[in-house]
Amino acid sequence: MKRIGILTSGGDAPGMNAAVRAVARKAMHEGLEVYGINYGYAGLVAGDIFKMDPITVGDKIQRGGTFLYSARYPEFAQVEGQLKGIEQLNKFGIEALVVIGGDGSYHGALRLTEHGYNAIGLPGTIDNDIPFTDQTIGFDTAVNTVLESIDRIRDTAASHERTFVVEVMGRGAGDIALWAGVAGGAQDIIIPERDFDVKAVAEKLRASREHGQKHAIIVLAEGVMHADEFSEKLSEYGDFHLRSTVLGHVVRGGSPTASDRVLASRLGSKAVELLLEGKGGVALGIEKNEIIAHDMLDLFNHKHHAMLDLYDLNEDLAY
Ligand code: F6P
Repeated sequence: MKRIGILTSGGDAPGMNAAVRAVARKAMHEGLEVYGINYGYAGLVAGDIFKMDPITVGDKIQRGGTFLYSARYPEFAQVEGQLKGIEQLNKFGIEALVVIGGDGSYHGALRLTEHGYNAIGLPGTIDNDIPFTDQTIGFDTAVNTVLESIDRIRDTAASHERTFVVEVMGRGAGDIALWAGVAGGAQDIIIPERDFDVKAVAEKLRASREHGQKHAIIVLAEGVMHADEFSEKLSEYGDFHLRSTVLGHVVRGGSPTASDRVLASRLGSKAVELLLEGKGGVALGIEKNEIIAHDMLDLFNHKHHAMLDLYDLNEDLAY
């Protein structure tokens, strides 16, 4: 094998650049040529492909987002787009592809492998909603970004004795809410994976106020409902001096944490090692601190499970 390609796809995530750098540098170290593909699968189909050198990926490890740009490109679900993509890869002599992204990006990679083209997937999404990996690239940074916001919100919540509902990203997964909620000392964490009862949330808030805790933070995963809707329901059960904040895309930006950079570097390097061994059609993840490859097909037969013991832990610690 002489040439590999890299693309980032779906929602950007902090650490994607570190992963691209790791793939490129490791591949070059092994004597391979590396091609970057801009705008994910959309750029692949359009042939927006360029040759990288070691400097292309210099000064990128610390940057959030993805310098390869990203795009959501549902058209890649059509066979026509997939074949066009493979045609472009062949035109550039690119023999294997590393795809960094989330669930949708993995579907694209799987389609390529079904057409006999070698692709490896790296989990890059803030949502942490990919099976067979304890963490995805970008998740740790997103949690820390939310945490910083919670700490700031707590200052004003305490000063005015208010209750804040803080809505965080995560699509259908509650992982960001869970981790940031526990780390931020949330009074309650509301996630799609657990049923909740607004009346019970209100009762806990009231009890906590009676015990002397005059302010509170409730972390709400976006997959449950909007913060305003939740606040409205909560206000039916009492006056908790409510305010709601939607952190939105702020959660997705920023310089990646050390943990995300190291994870991205390990995953990127391993992807190249596997391609050199002639392996493809796999998705990489980290399990018990080991980089593991799973057949890409297996991923779609499994569900990601959020660490629900964190939910129970928070119930015990909130007062
Ligand atoms: O998958 C990453 C993510 O940021 C989700 O948390 C969020 O629901 C979604 O993407 C937002 O998508 P967009 O940037 O297309 O609005």
